[in-house]
Amino acid sequence: MSFTKLHRMQLNQRRKFVKQLLATSLAGLALPSMAGVSDLKSPTAVEDESYWENIKKQFTISENRVMMNAANLCPCPTIVQKRVQELTDALNQDVSFQYRSLFTTLRKKSVAMLAQFVGADESEIGITRNTSESNCMIAHGLDLKPGDEIIIWDQNHPSNREVWLSQARRLGFNVKSIGVPADPASVNDLLQPFIKAITPNTKLIAFSHLSNLSGLALPAKAICQLANARGIMTLVDGAQTFGSMNIDVHDLGCTFFTASTHKWLMGPFENGILYVHKDHFKKIWPAVIGGGWKEATTVDQQLCVLGQRNDPSPAALPEILAFHEAIGKKNVESRIVKLTTYLKQQLKTNVPLATFVTPMAAQHSGGIVIFNLPGKDLQQVTDTLYHTHHIAAAPSGGIRLSPHIYNTLKDIDYTVKAIQEVAR
Ligand SMILES: Cc1ncc(COP(=O)(O)O)c(C=O)c1O
Repeated sequence: MSFTKLHRMQLNQRRKFVKQLLATSLAGLALPSMAGVSDLKSPTAVEDESYWENIKKQFTISENRVMMNAANLCPCPTIVQKRVQELTDALNQDVSFQYRSLFTTLRKKSVAMLAQFVGADESEIGITRNTSESNCMIAHGLDLKPGDEIIIWDQNHPSNREVWLSQARRLGFNVKSIGVPADPASVNDLLQPFIKAITPNTKLIAFSHLSNLSGLALPAKAICQLANARGIMTLVDGAQTFGSMNIDVHDLGCTFFTASTHKWLMGPFENGILYVHKDHFKKIWPAVIGGGWKEATTVDQQLCVLGQRNDPSPAALPEILAFHEAIGKKNVESRIVKLTTYLKQQLKTNVPLATFVTPMAAQHSGGIVIFNLPGKDLQQVTDTLYHTHHIAAAPSGGIRLSPHIYNTLKDIDYTVKAIQEVAR
């Protein structure tokens, strides 16, 4: 058989294989270890702790470890790990230009599903590598000039703070960094500092939806509303809310929304989301241009052609999105609220030494609980929790615990008991 004929045959086989993968990707959700999708959607089942014990089984977390660091990195469920592996194996079997073009089709499907997941138009969504990159793309892509002002929250992540300060030094615009009350009595307490900082020169308000340093959530929709009413753009950094809150970007009313898939979405590792409202598409210059780029009309094609990527990662996004949909986005959100509310109550009752950084009110917080043990060294406490009790917590703004749907109430009880010991 000639080499060309053999090659053509192999190519057809590969194509068939990827088509099969595409066709079976959603069916894969009904893996034997998982309760049927209809059970997962049952509104009463989610009240039952055994439902969540079953969800935990969809992950490969070591049995003797308790992962409470969702704010930092989340594990992928088995179904996503398998999909990434299948696609990686397929790619390793054929890295030809022709075969790799199939990943363009898979990526388009991911963009379409992501758009649906966050309530955006398909043309408004792009896939980057992480939130940091998405934030920096906006900061480097906007035309800002001397005299312009932008407002940032003083709790923003460096990728939504330092990049603005650096660009301000370069282009001569002004950055106002504002604080808000640590334990607000009302939404208005959180809005007032923004309202006071706005001037006729304000062009953009860029803020974390939920702070990784305090666990405080800002009223994003209300901030976007007041900005929209004044013709000001908004950048909502949703690294700590995408996948944990039921986000609808059109309802939120933001101009830009950024997030990572390796945090609360639970995979695949190393993807970012960039949403740009269609009315503002033309305001962003591409900060990165890779091979194959040409002027385009969608965010993914105009701003997210980043050179060679680990293609199986964005291609596996439909699996995790279907996983969330199967459980129900609202159920994911309310489970996280239940876990953090229980965690706060248990800490308050059983660890009198604990002082809270995160507000107790669920209205002003999300999946993150941060507290201190006065007199105790932060690093030592989190190291002891990990090495002695096998609990992953982060020394970030205090002792930071961020449980997710792969945690159970038993995990919380176990963690609080460990903290009681450490606090002694
Ligand atoms: C609010 C916020 N923005 C951005 C990031 C950066 O995320 P990534 O490292 O995925 O870019 C983080 C990480 O913790 C974060 O908490």
